[in-house]
Amino acid sequence: MNKNIVVIGTQWGDEGKGKIVDWLTDHASAVVRFQGGHNAGHTLVIETNGKQKEYKLNLIPSGIVRSGVACLIGNGVVLDVSHLLKEIDILEADGLNVRDRLFVSPGCPLIIKSHVMIDQAREAARSATKKIGTTGKGIGPAYEDKVARRSIRVYDLFNLETLKAKLTDLLDHHNFILKHQLRAPEVSFDEVFNELSSVADSIRPMVVDISKKIHDLNQQNKNILFEGAQGALLDIDHGTYPFVTSSNCVAGQASAGSGIGPNKLDYILGITKAYTTRVGGGPFPSELDIEEAGSPGFQMSEVGREYGTVTKRKRRCGWFDAVALKRSAMVNGLSGLCITKLDVLDGLDQIQICTHYEFNGTLIDTPPLSADEVAQCKPQFISMPGWRDSTFGVKQWQDLPANAQDYLKKIEAITGIPIHIVSTGPERDETILIKHPFELS
Ligand code: GDP
Ligand code: IMO
Ligand code: MG
Repeated sequence: MNKNIVVIGTQWGDEGKGKIVDWLTDHASAVVRFQGGHNAGHTLVIETNGKQKEYKLNLIPSGIVRSGVACLIGNGVVLDVSHLLKEIDILEADGLNVRDRLFVSPGCPLIIKSHVMIDQAREAARSATKKIGTTGKGIGPAYEDKVARRSIRVYDLFNLETLKAKLTDLLDHHNFILKHQLRAPEVSFDEVFNELSSVADSIRPMVVDISKKIHDLNQQNKNILFEGAQGALLDIDHGTYPFVTSSNCVAGQASAGSGIGPNKLDYILGITKAYTTRVGGGPFPSELDIEEAGSPGFQMSEVGREYGTVTKRKRRCGWFDAVALKRSAMVNGLSGLCITKLDVLDGLDQIQICTHYEFNGTLIDTPPLSADEVAQCKPQFISMPGWRDSTFGVKQWQDLPANAQDYLKKIEAITGIPIHIVSTGPERDETILIKHPFELS
């Protein structure tokens, strides 16, 4: 029987989803993106003949490095076509064949220049405590237009009269906001129209009905991976609103964002860092100081190379937050966890896990929904002894130091979700398999 597996981030993004999707893709015929846009930055490191090659993907699914695997961009993704074409060119210059096996939904709403301008001008206008720290790629404004039913979608690129009419309306709306609300320069119709009409022919051969393609692959008994971007705590509904992204990042979105029925999703893998990071604004109860040399936060930042893939910003770092993870487990229906970056904790004397928050004088083990309330929560930690030996690149559970095994078992016990994969390095094969999601009955 074929399987459809959803891989999502359970924290605030950058958990290592790309690495694990690539690793799992040796069992899959297709990988599907179903939300977000080029705000995502997914890193793959692949070693061949002793040489390591790093790939950074924004829109193209992380199956692209395995030849023969189809890569599908579902309707839930907001698409900057020019960015997609650049990403294709970079990968093709690296010798990968992309155009033959990349497929894009005609239903994706487009990101145009004015979305980017509005995103950046709004962010600049926010006061320091209100800054979301968006990636500035136009994601929020593009999703606003989708919900307001004024988006230009991929299929509109192929009818220049429709495109003209829709772009006129959309730019009227955007330029009013830019001029009167944000006091920012307006965007010219001709510039956007020329850009969109010039990319239309390049993307046209890749545009197919993604829902139908997924359905056909399933009919042929093929395994499919659904690759989430961002993470559940950045979800527009379930995250720390308004310090979130503008899409649903939870597993359920795999269904709506690609056009597969939820009853066809067999297994949900939650990618979870062995500690916590967050890039951008918003509450972060288990946050540590990352500047003090020699401190645990400093180690996470430096050893973990916690710099944003897209914006190069330093990521904030903190201890593993089991409270936040409980909400994530709940809203995603996790079947199993993959714990990544365990190696980054090597050498710490003590490792802490946030097990509860103190909120209004009581202990809670599920976070409040309101970001203001999360900001008032005081983290409560347990402490566990660390380990001296390196776990970097370890490939077998029994080769992990006993204290590292205990740390992982504690995470399982507190969250109630079994750990099925552990990642011990950025390279594809620096991975410990406990139970294979595609091989579970
Ligand atoms: P994604 O957005 O969830 O795909 O994650 P990113 O690629 O933005 O960030 C994860 C970073 O950690 C990347 O630089 C990966 O190469 C790296 N990485 C992934 N897994 C591991 C691991 O187990 N150990 C270490 N040291 N690095 C890892
Ligand atoms: P991947 O897929 C981490 C964050 C931004 C900001 C907020 C809103 O690589 O895990 P947006 O531009 O989406 O409107 O920004 O969301 N953010 C991410 N943080 N990883 C990501 O993607 C992110 N995508 C957006 O930093 O706080
Ligand atoms: Mg990332």
